[in-house]
Amino acid sequence: MSINVGIAGLGVVAQGLLELASTNSERLSAIAAKPLCVTRVASRRLREEAALGSIPFSTDLDDLVNDDDLDLVIELIGGTDAAYDLIKACLNRGRGVITANKAVLATHGNELLEIARERHVPLAFEAAVAGGIPIIAALKTRFPANSVNWITGIINGTCNYILTAMSEEGVAFEDALRRAQELGYAEADPTFDVGGMDAAQKLAILVALAFDVPIEIDEVYCEGIQDITIDDIRHADEFGYSIKHLAIGRQEDDVIEMRVHPALVPKDNLLARVNDVENAVQLGTTNTGVLRFTGPGAGGHATASSVIADLTNIASGLYQQPGIGGKPLQARRMGDVSSEFFLSIAATDRPGVIASIGEILASHGISIASMVQKQEEVVRSDDSSVIPVVILTNSVVERELDQSLQELESLDDIASPIKKIRVVDLA
Ligand code: HSE
Repeated sequence: MSINVGIAGLGVVAQGLLELASTNSERLSAIAAKPLCVTRVASRRLREEAALGSIPFSTDLDDLVNDDDLDLVIELIGGTDAAYDLIKACLNRGRGVITANKAVLATHGNELLEIARERHVPLAFEAAVAGGIPIIAALKTRFPANSVNWITGIINGTCNYILTAMSEEGVAFEDALRRAQELGYAEADPTFDVGGMDAAQKLAILVALAFDVPIEIDEVYCEGIQDITIDDIRHADEFGYSIKHLAIGRQEDDVIEMRVHPALVPKDNLLARVNDVENAVQLGTTNTGVLRFTGPGAGGHATASSVIADLTNIASGLYQQPGIGGKPLQARRMGDVSSEFFLSIAATDRPGVIASIGEILASHGISIASMVQKQEEVVRSDDSSVIPVVILTNSVVERELDQSLQELESLDDIASPIKKIRVVDLA
């Protein structure tokens, strides 16, 4: 008896999967101890370049629900609505599903995982987070001799690719994004990548697994990289930092912090050296120190490898469904989080300006760790000119910092908005 597999979607990951499944078919069937056959593909759009051979194809996703000869459906269409309908219908018919879709899991994962549990069918999602890195498999072990206290990662390949190109080649943001799209890394709507939503969705899934809470995307604080400039990257570099888009989940006294945002990372930390489409996830544990996972975070073959890992695990009977939501999630507000900050302030080059910046920060209990007044005059559209003042603060609660920035922005000599980027202490 073979395992009959249906695939939904014909994008970069589906095409990667078809290629890997065909070139490794004997090996995969040997691992599963039975033939694995792709017997149906459905996608709302046919792509001529997809090598379907004799596999039946249709543009109606319901064909995957109604084909009772299918044992498993692999959902690779992305997005939420159609993917949700398809996964739910398949699970309700007792058919297992493998998905690479973090958006649908972040939005409907609690419900879908509950249906899978009730129906005793797998809903596997290794490919949904960090592409080719087996981070879901790692978290599923629950680290029995440990607790995971924190997760810090670079989990959006597109952001990392763009920041690397800006930093190492001086490529403009838009050009770097175009290259990431051409390489098939970006989402259909790349604002999900650069705006941080994609990383937020992945973080919500990782946190649910690590801390046994529900998937709560609305509790993730989310900032993207759209406002990061080559000057910010250069100024951070002069202080000894790289700018990365980080995802952070931290549990302290049952309160959980979940945030994705650009951050200054010390150049000697592993995360500062994770470049291009590479992803990295670091887990802080009680008894095994820091566990570090790195690898390609996007791309057809890398992501398809994780899909195939789920497929062979399910087919060979080794797959274990992870449980989540054992306890409610109590989230920490961003205003209550303490960080050091990088501030870039455009100020008029007049005597006393630096002193007023120092006074206002001090009145909020904020110390300056380093400050550089750049000799780079910037002429603005109204012909006035400003110079950047770049500051690193000591650790401060975010709410207090925001109040000080509001006061600074109300000064005539300081242009609004002030750029603030968190410095992340990875010790
Ligand atoms: N757009 C995603 C990324 C693809 O850039 O990381 C992988 O989830």
